[in-house]
Amino acid sequence: MADASLDRAAEVLIDRGIQGPFACAMVLGTGLGRIADDLENAVSIPYADIPGFPGSGVSGHAGRLVAGRFEGRRVLVFAGRAHYYEHGDPAAMRVPIGVLTAFGSPPLILTNAAGSVRQDIRPGAIVAIRDHINFSGTNPLIGEAGDARFVSMTDAYDSRLLRRMKMTASTAGISLAEGVYMWFSGPSFETPAEIRMARTLGADLVGMSTVPEVILARRFRLRVAAVSIVTNMGAGIEGAAPSHSETRDVAATASAGLRRLLKAFVGGLEDV
Ligand code: HPA
Repeated sequence: MADASLDRAAEVLIDRGIQGPFACAMVLGTGLGRIADDLENAVSIPYADIPGFPGSGVSGHAGRLVAGRFEGRRVLVFAGRAHYYEHGDPAAMRVPIGVLTAFGSPPLILTNAAGSVRQDIRPGAIVAIRDHINFSGTNPLIGEAGDARFVSMTDAYDSRLLRRMKMTASTAGISLAEGVYMWFSGPSFETPAEIRMARTLGADLVGMSTVPEVILARRFRLRVAAVSIVTNMGAGIEGAAPSHSETRDVAATASAGLRRLLKAFVGGLEDV
């Protein structure tokens, strides 16, 4: 597929002083935006200024791209993401993710807030995503021409990055679970019956993001790691009735542990 849209975005970023390579790129989910403020020598560009980037309208999501140093490593941070439920476009993050190919194709670390469908994974837990189930019925590559759309998803979550994330957590004394994330379109939360179904089908977590980004990242041959903050038990588990304000509030308080994990993880990456 012709990627003039990626070229246009890359041109603007280069014009604004963004230069690769980067040790990694990160997408910050609900409650994690603060990491963008921790970057040193930061160059910050609102998504609105970058062609092809999504306007980001949901509360708790800032919508800016920040390049800088984090734990001594050069990183590119996406503070804010577009969700499928915002405009019905599963490829809304195509340009932000695809443009990474113009900056050395750094590994991509995705973060999110998620509900747990497992009683032993509680609110506040941090979970490395090992695999996913796309339950949305859609795919960000629908409509793309050419054979690059037939992306293999067998190794979507890079096993080396996952191993490294687990080792980092264990060294830092941060408890890190591992699980399968099931993507629901949202924006309504799941019903209790849907949560029971998710568990039966092999999910550990449910959420409304990340999966389309993983598919896009694999389309562009980026290595991916993804980590969730559990903000709530899935609907109906122990009477849970999740709400947006609850997920936002819990994500904000529970994000300290994930921030610590990301710091240790990025600090341990090779300098570039
Ligand atoms: N369901 C879907 N998305 C979520 C949840 C949930 O329970 N919690 C945080 N994001």
